[in-house]
Amino acid sequence: EKAGYKHFMAKEIAEQPVVLGDALRHYLRPEGVNLPAELDFSGLERLTLVACGTAFYACSVAKYWFEQLAGLPCEIDVASEFRYREPPLPAKSYAVFVSQSGETADTLAALRYCTEKVQKTIAVVNVPTSSIAREADLALPILAGVEVGVASTKAFTCQLLALAVMALKAGIDRGHLSPDQLAGHLETLRALPGLMNAALSTSDEIAKLAGQLAEAQDILFLGRGPMYPLALEGALKLKEISYIHAEGYASGELKHGPIALIDRMVPVIVLAPHDRLFDKTVSNMQEVMARHGKVLLITDGKGIATAAEGTWASLRLPEVAEPFAPILYALPAQLLAYHTAIAKGTDVDQPRNLAKSVTVE
Ligand code: M6R
Repeated sequence: EKAGYKHFMAKEIAEQPVVLGDALRHYLRPEGVNLPAELDFSGLERLTLVACGTAFYACSVAKYWFEQLAGLPCEIDVASEFRYREPPLPAKSYAVFVSQSGETADTLAALRYCTEKVQKTIAVVNVPTSSIAREADLALPILAGVEVGVASTKAFTCQLLALAVMALKAGIDRGHLSPDQLAGHLETLRALPGLMNAALSTSDEIAKLAGQLAEAQDILFLGRGPMYPLALEGALKLKEISYIHAEGYASGELKHGPIALIDRMVPVIVLAPHDRLFDKTVSNMQEVMARHGKVLLITDGKGIATAAEGTWASLRLPEVAEPFAPILYALPAQLLAYHTAIAKGTDVDQPRNLAKSVTVE
């Protein structure tokens, strides 16, 4: 059932263009998005997004989208904190719970906390029969198909897609997006499966870098804007399966502490599409290089042309319009974790101490 792949994780990474295509067919219509009519973001004061692990990083990316595309104030939290914080919730709000399995104990408890306090609870799940899907007022499937690898990969990009579609709907409902802007964003989303195929073709190049990455004690991931939570996700993926200590940071935070870690031994992975924040990220990257940090720049053709000089290595991805680059850049982040773990000889599908579904807190 690994369909010729050595590991479920490799298979699930490779499936992403196909499953994302399925999800796009489900959620997009020629002129707009296809979401249940009862979802109406127009009068909302706030959106709350709650999840654990990788699903939480999907929420963290989506916060940028809901704010930017819909002008909707957005709160995010990990479920284990949220449930005991007992946060006040505006009545005119929706609460969204993102979970691949739909069985994560903390996320389910957070959902139960919100029930009756908000206008609507929404589950974004891969398993439509799961507890979280059943208990929420509305369940939206991510359509990733069964995910076996403990390290979540295709579920992450499909979670991002479902959240992107919701953010576009919110943008329309709230009069924040013009029809032209909407059309542009839909076009960006539709292009993703093709771009993902191109991103997957960096796999061999990444495998060649993995030998050196596997020797590192610590690895940093940097990103700005919606690429910052992707840096957190890249670090989580790497530590889960390769057991190398990795941290994600907002690029601008570098000089507030983590730059003290930089020396020749520390690889720094910079996730930086050539967008409006590119120059700022590059100046952070140059600060790393000035301290002999080993930079791997992941960017597009324009980014390579302007900033690859002096890096240890660079990877070229196709161009993708803002703000959906994290959906594409997730793939090299997953491949980096995968190949580094393979180089270390760890069990990528069943890493030590981890369970696929965390049904106890
Ligand atoms: O099933 P869920 O999406 O609720 O699971 C949440 C986390 O346990 C999960 O994403 C975990 O962090 C993965 N092992 C990440 O690869």
